[in-house]
Amino acid sequence: MRYRRMPIEIEAPEGFGYDKIDCNLSESSVTDQRLVDLGLDLGDLLLYYGDHRGKPELRELIAKDAGISTDEVMITSGAATALFILATSLLEKGDHLVVAKTNYATNIETPRAIGADISFLELKFESGFELDIAELDALITDKTKLVSLTYPHNPTGVLISEEKLKAIVELVERKGTILMMDETYREMSFSRKLPVAATLSESVVSISSMSKSFGLPGIRIGWISTRNKALMEIFLAAKEQICITNSVVDEEIAFRFLQRKEPLFAPIKEAIARNFAILRNFMGGQDLLEWVEPNGGCVCFPRIRKDIMLDMKRFHDILLNTYGTYIGRGHWFEEDDRYLRIGYSWDKSEKLEKGLKNILRSIDEARLF
Ligand SMILES: Cc1ncc(COP(=O)(O)O)c(C=O)c1O
Repeated sequence: MRYRRMPIEIEAPEGFGYDKIDCNLSESSVTDQRLVDLGLDLGDLLLYYGDHRGKPELRELIAKDAGISTDEVMITSGAATALFILATSLLEKGDHLVVAKTNYATNIETPRAIGADISFLELKFESGFELDIAELDALITDKTKLVSLTYPHNPTGVLISEEKLKAIVELVERKGTILMMDETYREMSFSRKLPVAATLSESVVSISSMSKSFGLPGIRIGWISTRNKALMEIFLAAKEQICITNSVVDEEIAFRFLQRKEPLFAPIKEAIARNFAILRNFMGGQDLLEWVEPNGGCVCFPRIRKDIMLDMKRFHDILLNTYGTYIGRGHWFEEDDRYLRIGYSWDKSEKLEKGLKNILRSIDEARLF
């Protein structure tokens, strides 16, 4: 493995300093929860190693919701560890995989660190970031070990139809490869949620977590699901070598949260809808940015119109240092810095409105002519 720190982590707001940010539009989750607001009493919790696959009652809740069995779910330290386990279990140096691009940076960087041979399935702004099945088909060879997708998508917030998901599953089965579906944003679909992809075939692995939709990134709880028993055994071996088990404290908090998921998630969903209305209204009332309107998640990926001549460095400098507004820069996703990832449901609604206005002011001030 050849590890390299990714720009998205080097420049993450928690490293930059929350105290230096006025409007934080760089986050990719909803507002973080406070433990006290969850009203939990964990005083009696036994601090033992715990079940290697993860707390059975937690796995049962996740499995029931997905429509698979408890043994087909393994808890991990966030989706991040699940992605690492998957990539290192399936890929060796020189192995071929297909990865959607743009993407959450780890989905590209871990295969790269392994030395895998990556083909990118480009999701283009001009095509509404739509996945083209014929293009995907052409990229998969008889050597392809993995196809890596994420929906609802980070950083664009776009989704695919259930029909397309089923066509992709049929394609990977026919080609004899494995599909990894990163479903970290699944709960935040604006319309009906896609089925958990792992329920559709033994050739699919689904990954998800508590971080994004529930505002619980600090408990580091994610999971990996598959009906493929042989793969699950390898994933368990990987987990046992990395950390043996999860923190039982984190697992207990996740379990108690999911037991009350409906009432706890309802206000979060309402806040996302309110903030999305602010964002949509803003996008409709200006002509410096263009976007593909998202249909899930809590992030979007607009870009500054191409005909606007701009000193990009100055733009980002003014936005952050004059107006204290932090956004996700294009290069975090291996794109031009004209692209901005805007997280619209982490900071307060007033800060969202203010931050959006600051983006327009900064473009105006960094314009060349
Ligand atoms: C698509 C996607 N997958 C996985 C992760 C990792 O999340 P976590 O490890 O907090 O569950 C992220 C975090 O930004 C993400 O956006």
